[in-house]
Amino acid sequence: MTTSTERFLRACRRQPVDCTPVWFMRQAGRYMAAYQALRQRYSLLDLCKTPELAAEVTLQPIQRLPVDAAIIFTDLLIPLEPMGARLVFAPNEGPVIENPIRSASDVEALRMVDPQADLAFTLEAIRMVCREIDGKVPLIGFAGAPFTLASYLIEGSGSRHYIQTKQLMYHQPEAWHGLLDKLASVATTFLQAQIAAGAQVVQLFDSWVGCLSPDDYRRYVLPYTKQVIDGLRNAGAPVIHFGTDTAMLLDAMREAGSDVIGVDWRIPLDDAWRRIGPDVGIQGNLDPVALFAPLPEIERRVDDILQRAGNRPGHIFNLGHGILPETPVQHVQAVADLVHARSARQKESAEG
Ligand code: CP3
Repeated sequence: MTTSTERFLRACRRQPVDCTPVWFMRQAGRYMAAYQALRQRYSLLDLCKTPELAAEVTLQPIQRLPVDAAIIFTDLLIPLEPMGARLVFAPNEGPVIENPIRSASDVEALRMVDPQADLAFTLEAIRMVCREIDGKVPLIGFAGAPFTLASYLIEGSGSRHYIQTKQLMYHQPEAWHGLLDKLASVATTFLQAQIAAGAQVVQLFDSWVGCLSPDDYRRYVLPYTKQVIDGLRNAGAPVIHFGTDTAMLLDAMREAGSDVIGVDWRIPLDDAWRRIGPDVGIQGNLDPVALFAPLPEIERRVDDILQRAGNRPGHIFNLGHGILPETPVQHVQAVADLVHARSARQKESAEG
């Protein structure tokens, strides 16, 4: 029997699989009763910083759903704290950074991060999860890509137009490049440490990079994302590089050099794969809001994505962005089951 680990790692390397592997971004979270029960007692930061709790939350979706990967539970913004950011999660508001970066001297003052000391709780949670899943399910480590981390550091929260971020880019290019260089180092050392602790795959989240023109992406972002991926080349874990609204950035993202590119639902999967080219895998791309549709409609959309992937090696099924809090958990389960059932390959082709 193929384990999820074999299935997932083979898909990352674009080798034939018995069926398409599936997982869900933000698969640990509020749509799940077990998560909500823990959140009654602990804050998000407590969950992230207590290895036993982070490990427990990481395992919740594995216990409830037939997914082919676990993703370590932490938040994208946690590594910004040891750099000097004062991070708070205001109830129902999302993350806020109380001392946003606005100048060259702010960038200068950011500290570099030593993951073994500053992010030891995540590395310990990874070791605990790995002992528990015993190689049967792969564990995905993750970090924010330099642009998305920078946008939070500069805006101080989520943003609609990224005005402060682009202003720093356009008015103080040296400060911008200094900032992205620091964030690239932090992401690289953190991901290297996660792999050393047992993560078998890593995902780089560049969730908000789609706000950039292709030109600005190439000039202000691509070199730093590439720097992170180059730094992982010999670490022994495939890299998934994810962003939303990236239809026009895909050929530039491809140059960053990941094994797999994650795309959202705004571009049909086959169209995206054509732009990325056949020598890179693809992850995606069901609209997370489609999980609120009636089951026959969900089924139609899952089939459409699988048909566009055409059983070509290198597809990992996922949503185009994270699961939303009110999502019916039975619909998430139905998608995972459907993906496995509908994509099951003939035996010869799986071995071929
Ligand atoms: O995928 C997983 O299950 C692992 C856990 C995970 C979390 N955050 C935990 C979390 C992951 C992969 C993230 C990534 C993350 N965090 C991103 C990139 C991915 C994306 O969705 O674009 C971003 C931009 C963040 C920053 C962040 N954290 C925001 C904007 C919010 C508020 C929005 C929201 O969903 O509440 C968070 C909070 C957060 N991070 C929650 C979880 C489970 C919800 C917190 C809660 O329990 O109240």
